[in-house]
Amino acid sequence: MDNVAINAILRPKTIAVVGASTIPGKIGYTVVKGLLEAGFRGEIYPVNPQATDLLGLKVYASILDIPGPVDAAVITVPAKLVPQVIDECGKKGVKGLMVITSGFSEVGNHDLEDQIVRQANSYGSRILGPNIVGVLSNSDKLNASFAPFLPLSGRASLITQSGALLIALDAATYTRRVGFDKLISIGNTADIDIADLVDWLNEDENTTCICLYIEGFKNGRPFIEASRRTKKPIIALKAGVSAHGAAAAASHTGSLAGAAKVYGAAFQQSGVVEATDLGNLFDRTLALSLLPPMNGDNLLIITNGGGVGVLATDAAEKYGIPLKFAPLDVQAEVKKHMPDFGSAKNPVDLTGMAGNEWYFDSVKYCYAHAWADGLVVLYCETAMTNPMEIAQSIKKAVDESGITDKPITVSFVGGERSNAAMSWLVENGIPAYPAPDIAVNAIAALREYARMKATVAESIVIGDTSNHAAAMEIINRARAEGRDTLTEIEAKQVFALYGLPVTSTSLAKTEDEAVALAKKIGFPVVMKIVSPDILHKSDAGGVKVNIKDENAVHEAYGAILANSKAYKADARIHGIAIQEMAPWGTEVILGSINDPTFGPTMMFGLGGIFVEVLKDVTFRVAPVSNGQALRMLDEIRGAPILSGIRGEAPRDRQAMADTVCHYSTMILDLASEISESDANPVLVYEEGKGVKVVDARIILKKK
Ligand code: ACO
Repeated sequence: MDNVAINAILRPKTIAVVGASTIPGKIGYTVVKGLLEAGFRGEIYPVNPQATDLLGLKVYASILDIPGPVDAAVITVPAKLVPQVIDECGKKGVKGLMVITSGFSEVGNHDLEDQIVRQANSYGSRILGPNIVGVLSNSDKLNASFAPFLPLSGRASLITQSGALLIALDAATYTRRVGFDKLISIGNTADIDIADLVDWLNEDENTTCICLYIEGFKNGRPFIEASRRTKKPIIALKAGVSAHGAAAAASHTGSLAGAAKVYGAAFQQSGVVEATDLGNLFDRTLALSLLPPMNGDNLLIITNGGGVGVLATDAAEKYGIPLKFAPLDVQAEVKKHMPDFGSAKNPVDLTGMAGNEWYFDSVKYCYAHAWADGLVVLYCETAMTNPMEIAQSIKKAVDESGITDKPITVSFVGGERSNAAMSWLVENGIPAYPAPDIAVNAIAALREYARMKATVAESIVIGDTSNHAAAMEIINRARAEGRDTLTEIEAKQVFALYGLPVTSTSLAKTEDEAVALAKKIGFPVVMKIVSPDILHKSDAGGVKVNIKDENAVHEAYGAILANSKAYKADARIHGIAIQEMAPWGTEVILGSINDPTFGPTMMFGLGGIFVEVLKDVTFRVAPVSNGQALRMLDEIRGAPILSGIRGEAPRDRQAMADTVCHYSTMILDLASEISESDANPVLVYEEGKGVKVVDARIILKKK
C-alpha cells in the first residue's frame, strides 16, 4: 500500500472533525479545542449538522460542504453513524481517516469493523483505528486527539496499542524529561497496522527512534519484515506476556513456548530492543532517540564517588557490558586529574575532590580515546561543587572532543540542583538519569541495538524445498488413515527429505523381519514400538536399546509388544522400528510450534534433563539465517557444553547450525501442515563429525 493515507493522517494540511461538538467536555469538542490550542497551522473544519460555529471556526453540516480538499478526518460520531460518515469522507476524497469511536471488534462487533475498512479502502482511503485516542505531532503542531496537549518535544515517536496509555504518557513526557515528536494511538488496527507505521516513521525526518507499546500483533510477520528494514532503533514494551496458548501442547516444544519467549525471539531477530516496564521504556527511549549506537563492548565509567561507581559496575555486568580495565595510556592520563588516592582503572574514580576541571579533562580525553566505545559519567552532589557547572563541563568536554559517533550517558545523584542540571543536560542532547544503574541500562540499550542490527543484516537463505511433494505424500497418507500424528518412521522420512541427518530406521512387521533388518543395519540396534496411539514410547516400555544379537532381537520384540499392550490395550500397532544405534553424543533438542502470531517458530536447547528440568531453550521465528542459528547455540545457558568444557573436544556447532537451518526450512515449507514437531534427541558429535537425529515427532494441524 502507498503512503498517501498515512501522510494524510500524520502530516495533514487540512483536517476535518466529523462529530465536532459544541458541548465542552465531549470528545468531538475536545478534539477541535486540542487542534486549536496546539497551534495547528493548516485548516480545521468542524463538521456537525446541528451547529454553525465552534470556538471561532465555521461548522459545516456535512464534510461534502467543505469548499477545498480535505486530507484527513477525525471521526467522533457514535459507531452506528460511522459507515455513513466514512462513505461521505470517501466521496469527498479524504484519504486519512482517524476513527476515535469505540464499539467495534474490541466488543465483538467485527462485521461493522470489516464493513468500514472495506468502504474506506474502496475509495482509496485508510483507517487508523477504530477505537483510538488520535495522533499528536510536535513537528506539525498537530493534536488530533482528546489528549490534553502536545508531548514534550523530542525525537522519538510512540506507537501505542493502548489509548489510555498514550494519554498517561503524554503528560509524563514532561516529568520524565523524554521528548517525543509523535504519539500515535492505533486502537484495533483494523486497517493501518504497526508495520505500516514503522515503515512510515523510518522515513520520517523528525523521528530518530520508534517506541512501541504492544499488547499483541494480529500477524507478527509484517512487523518482523518492517523492523528488519528500519534504519532507526526500535524499542518495544510488550505487555500481556502471561496468557498464551502453551497449555494444550502435545510436543516438548509446544509446552515450552510462551508469548514472552516467542515475542522475545521475534524482537531479537528483527533488531528490536526491549523495555522491561514503562519507566525503562522512557529511560531507554531517551538514549536511543538522542545517541548513536555503541559499536563495541568497551565501556568507561568516570565518577566522583566509589559507591555509585560500584553500582554502575554491577549494572554493567547485569546488562551485558562487563567492565574491563582501562588501557594504560588512559590510566596514566586520568591520574593527572585526581589525587593519589583516586583510581584510574575503570571506573575512573576522580574522588569527591573532583571539580569542573577534572571532570572536563577526564571526560574530554576518555570520550575521544579510541579504546572507549561508550562513556557513563557519574556525579554525586557535594558541597564543594555546583551540579550545573559539572553538567556544563561534561557538555563542553563532549563538544570539544569532536566525537559524534559514540554514546555517553550521565547520572547525577543529589537533590534539586542535580535535577536541574540533568534537565539542562537532556535539553542539550545528553541523556541524564537519577541513578547510576539507569544510566548504564540506557547505554546498554545502545549496545544491544548495535549487536542485533549487525545480525539482522544477515541474509536468510531458504533451503532446498524440492522434496515438498514427497513430504506431502507421507502427510496425506497419514491423514487418509484419520491420523494427525506421524509415526516416528514417517516423521524421520519427512525430516530426511529436508536434509536432516536421521538415524536409519526401518519398520519390522514380524519378528523374522526384525531379525533380518537388524542384521542389515548392523548390531547393535535400537528397537522401538511404532504406534500412532503411543506418543511417549519410553513411558510405555516400548524402547529397547543396545540390542547386540539375534537372540536379543527376539527377546526385545516380545517384551516391547507386551509392554505396549499393557500400556494401552487398544493401541494400533504398526510394528517395531529397527534403528541404527547412534554412538553417544551431546544430546540436544530441536522443535517447532506454529505460533498464533508469528507462525512457524523454532526451538533449540540442550536435551535430556536440561530441557526437562532447566528448560534451557531458545526460540526463533522461521526462517533463521546461519548466523542466527549459531547464536541460538550460543545463547542457551548450557552453551559451554557445546563449545567443549573440561578438556572435552568442541562439538560440531556448524553441523548443528546447518541442521537448525534445514529444520527451519522444513517447518516453513510445511507451515500449512505441521502444528508441532520435535527432534529429540539430536546427538551432536565432535567437530567435523556431524549430528544425528535419533527420534522424531510431527503433529499435524487438524483439518
Ligand atoms: N456528522 C457530523 N456530526 C454528527 C453527525 C454526522 N453525521 N451525527 C451526529 N453528529 C454530532 C452530534 O450532533 C454530536 O454533536 P453535539 O454534541 O454538538 O450534539 C456529535 O456528533 C457527537 O455525537 P453524540 O451522539 O453526541 O456522541 P458522543 O459524543 O456521546 O459519543 C463518541 C461519540 C465519543 C465517538 C463515542 O461513541 C465513543 O466511541 N466514545 C469512546 C471513544 C474512545 O474512548 N476511544 C478511544 C479508546 S482508547 C481509550 O481507552 C482511551
